[in-house]
Amino acid sequence: MLTTDRLLLRRWRDADREPFAAMNADPVVMEFFPSTRTRAESDAMIDRLEQAFERDGFGLWAVEQRSDGELLGFVGLSRPSLDVVVGGRPLSEQVEIGWRLRRDAWGRGLASEAARAVLRTAFDPDGLDLSEVVSFTAATNARSRALMERLGLTRDAADDFEHPALPPGHRLRPHVLYRASRSGLGDGRGPGSRPSTRPWQDRPDTRGRP
Ligand SMILES: CC(C)(COP(=O)(O)OP(=O)(O)OC[C@H]1O[C@@H](n2cnc3c(N)ncnc32)[C@H](O)[C@@H]1OP(=O)(O)O)[C@@H](O)C(=O)NCCC(=O)NCCS
Repeated sequence: MLTTDRLLLRRWRDADREPFAAMNADPVVMEFFPSTRTRAESDAMIDRLEQAFERDGFGLWAVEQRSDGELLGFVGLSRPSLDVVVGGRPLSEQVEIGWRLRRDAWGRGLASEAARAVLRTAFDPDGLDLSEVVSFTAATNARSRALMERLGLTRDAADDFEHPALPPGHRLRPHVLYRASRSGLGDGRGPGSRPSTRPWQDRPDTRGRP
């Protein structure tokens, strides 16, 4: 569990199923996915998210607003299931930071706040001790890309890829990939690399202790 000024990032509960399904049925929230999700699909996703925590020791945390206990969505880490090779490595061997918040939670810096806490624990030698985290999205998902850039993640166009599950010509097929590394030295592969500002390390550590 992680705690920030305004948020609790925690494992999933049965009470989350209804608000989670409402978020996943919102066409604006789901604009950059092929479709919205039914209640059954949304419930199945919670089951998969919980299984991932058991398997990987990390996952996409439920984001709860501390002031009123409302479920706002998820922010966290996952192992991508896409069959794609980027930067010479299968994406499935990398760790992705991802997010999805209810529409009424946008524009308040909440996704950034949660994601900074996730990156701190991802790179913390006493936490998950990862050396690199990636994030990817449809090239047209400007809000998600802006968040990646606010967090200090950097994109190398050489890592752009076509989503293998979508047909050629699909509006969501072109994807961009951003990276953050613990050393904050970019990907180290040449002129495109530049030192990261590591904004997740420049703030007070508000990690919660279980
Ligand atoms: C991607 C997503 C999480 C971004 O949420 P967000 O609220 O825009 O991101 P942030 O938390 O960084 O908030 C930044 C905004 O809050 C504003 N803000 C207000 N108070 C703030 C504060 N205290 N601190 C920081 N920013 C603040 C910023 O000015 C910025 O506003 P802007 O969008 O008008 O420029 C959200 O749009 C979403 O859930 N989208 C749908 C799901 C999705 O596409 N996920 C990605 C799929 S790969």
